[in-house]
Amino acid sequence: PTPLVVDTDPGIDDALALLLALASPEVDLQLVTTVHGNVDLAQTTENALRVLHLAGRSDVPVAAGARSSLVVPLARRAGHVHGEAGLGGVVLPPSVAAVDPRPAVVALAELLMRSDRPVTVAAIGPLTNIALLVSVYPDAAARIGRLVVMGGSASRGGNVTAAAEFNVWADPEAAAVVFAAGLPTVLVGLDVTLPTVLTEAGIARFAAAGPIGAQAAAVLRQYLDHARTSYGIDGVVVHDALALTEAIVPGTLHTVPRDVVVDTGPGAGRGQTLVDRRSPSTSDTAVAVAEGVDSDAAVEFLVSRLASLG
Ligand code: BDR
Ligand code: CA
Repeated sequence: PTPLVVDTDPGIDDALALLLALASPEVDLQLVTTVHGNVDLAQTTENALRVLHLAGRSDVPVAAGARSSLVVPLARRAGHVHGEAGLGGVVLPPSVAAVDPRPAVVALAELLMRSDRPVTVAAIGPLTNIALLVSVYPDAAARIGRLVVMGGSASRGGNVTAAAEFNVWADPEAAAVVFAAGLPTVLVGLDVTLPTVLTEAGIARFAAAGPIGAQAAAVLRQYLDHARTSYGIDGVVVHDALALTEAIVPGTLHTVPRDVVVDTGPGAGRGQTLVDRRSPSTSDTAVAVAEGVDSDAAVEFLVSRLASLG
C-alpha cells in the first residue's frame, strides 16, 4: 500500500475522509496532522483522535499543526456548517491515545525523510501546515509523491464567499505558497465536489452495516439539514472524501495541468483561485486541476468502503 498522510480539520467531511482512508487497502495511513479550519485547532485535533478511535485505529499518530493562518487570522470558522464541536453535534467517545508531542510539520518532515516509498499527502483543510513544510523543510516537501488538495474552484464560484472556496479562503497566502511550490499537486475543487452528492439512500447503506457506519451516518445528519436549507439539495457534498478517493485511487478524477493563482488581496475576491483554462499549462509549477468526475462511481466507492468498516 501507498504510505498516506492526511492533513485535516475535522469537520464532518474530514471525518468521512479519514474513515474512507482507513477502509482502503490501497493506502497505509501513517500519520494524521491537524490544522485550524472548520473549528479551532484544539477541537480539530480532538476530533481526529476520536475518529481514529471509533475505527479502532488509535495506533495512527495525530500531530497538531498550525492554530492560525499565516497572515490574517480567520474572522469566522464553519461551526454553522459542521456543528460548534465540528462533528455535527455527535459526541464520539474519547480516544485512548494522546496527541503526538511533535508539531505537525516536524512529524510530517520526519516521515517524508525516512520513508523508502513516495508518500501521498492529502490536504483537506486550510493549507497552513503544508505551506510551513514547504518553507521550513523544503527537502522533505520535495519528497512528497503526490499532494492531493481539497480546495478552490475553477468555474463554480465560491462556497464561503461569492468568489472563494473555504480551504483556500481560510489561508490564501498559504495556498499561494503551496500552488507555486512545484509539487506534484492535484487540486480537487468545487467543480468536481459539488456535483458529487451522497444521498439518504447511500447513507442508509453504511448506517445499517454496523456501529462505525452508524456513527458516520449520525455525524452526517446535521450536514444533511444544512444542505437542504442552504442549497436545496437532498443529500450531502462530502468534498474531502472525494479528494481522498483521488488520493487512494489515482486517476479517479480527470485532471488537466493548469496555472493557478490565488487572490491574496483584501477585497471581495480574497481566496479565489484563478485557474487559467485557456490551454493546458506546460509550466513547472502547473497544478493538476480536477475537471471531470464520475459522481455515481465516486459515491458508490465511498458508500461501499464505509459499509465495509461495519
Ligand atoms: C472544504 O471546507 C470545509 O468546510 C470542508 O471540510 C472542506 O474541506 C469545502 O469547501
Ligand atoms: Ca476539511
